[in-house]
Amino acid sequence: MSYRVVTKRFLNEAKSICLFEIEAPLIARHAMAGQFVIFRLDEQGERVPVSVAGYDRDKGTVTVMVQAAGRTTKMLHTVEEGDIITDIVGPLGRATEMDGLKKVCVVGGGVGCAIAYPIAKEMHEKGIEVTFIGGFRSADIVILKEELAAVSDKLVICTDDGTYGVKGFTTNALQAEIEANIAEGKPQFDRVIAIGPDIMMKFLAEVTRPYGIKTIISLDPIMVDGTGMCGGCRVIVGGETKFACVDGPDFDAHLVDFDSLIKRAAFYKDEQDAADRHICRMTGGKRVNG
Ligand code: FES
Repeated sequence: MSYRVVTKRFLNEAKSICLFEIEAPLIARHAMAGQFVIFRLDEQGERVPVSVAGYDRDKGTVTVMVQAAGRTTKMLHTVEEGDIITDIVGPLGRATEMDGLKKVCVVGGGVGCAIAYPIAKEMHEKGIEVTFIGGFRSADIVILKEELAAVSDKLVICTDDGTYGVKGFTTNALQAEIEANIAEGKPQFDRVIAIGPDIMMKFLAEVTRPYGIKTIISLDPIMVDGTGMCGGCRVIVGGETKFACVDGPDFDAHLVDFDSLIKRAAFYKDEQDAADRHICRMTGGKRVNG
């Protein structure tokens, strides 16, 4: 099976997030919003999980939107249309639950908007009222403005520095939307779905907790096999150990132990940074693993 890149497109001025549409008919046939795939760029390459940002069952393609963050994702950004990706495994994880929902607020932080987009799209297609809040540091990294507007009944984009949309954080915007529902006598959100940096999701959970609004987050911890075998993606939820790859990636935000999650992520980030700096003297600088 070969996975050919059919479309490549940078999504923002800063060229920090890139969309890839990839031929993968078997994955496209089964993919659902909220699931993810794991790719490898070559036989010895590290395995990198990325969320499914879209799929076309007729064309047999899946779309991913990837932020250049580590060594492999930076390498992926150099892949061009027509190039082949060695391996893609998926779809993995559970699809986002939408049954019975009527009014939802979807919150994306940075590249989290790329993951939140197919969820908002599917909800919109099912007739669920969608308010979308997208948060970015600044105007040059804002993505998917038109796409998000097309699948939302209300779209709020905020930037930390106020260079685009509303100045402020997603937490402020979510609080304002919840308060507006109360003040205007409108039905409250029956769910908030948040995807973005762990720290953002932690504080969003505290915004919704006093109102009793069920809040689901999509986690993106370190993953290796993606099948529940290695334990790399473990997370504490409601006092129990869960594996994001098979039990998630969606979890109840009010039950997630964010402090242990953030601590583990920081540990692996330090390890990854050290691995990226390492130059192997056995291979003359060529990495053989990861
Ligand atoms: S990635 Fe190995 S258990 Fe989830």
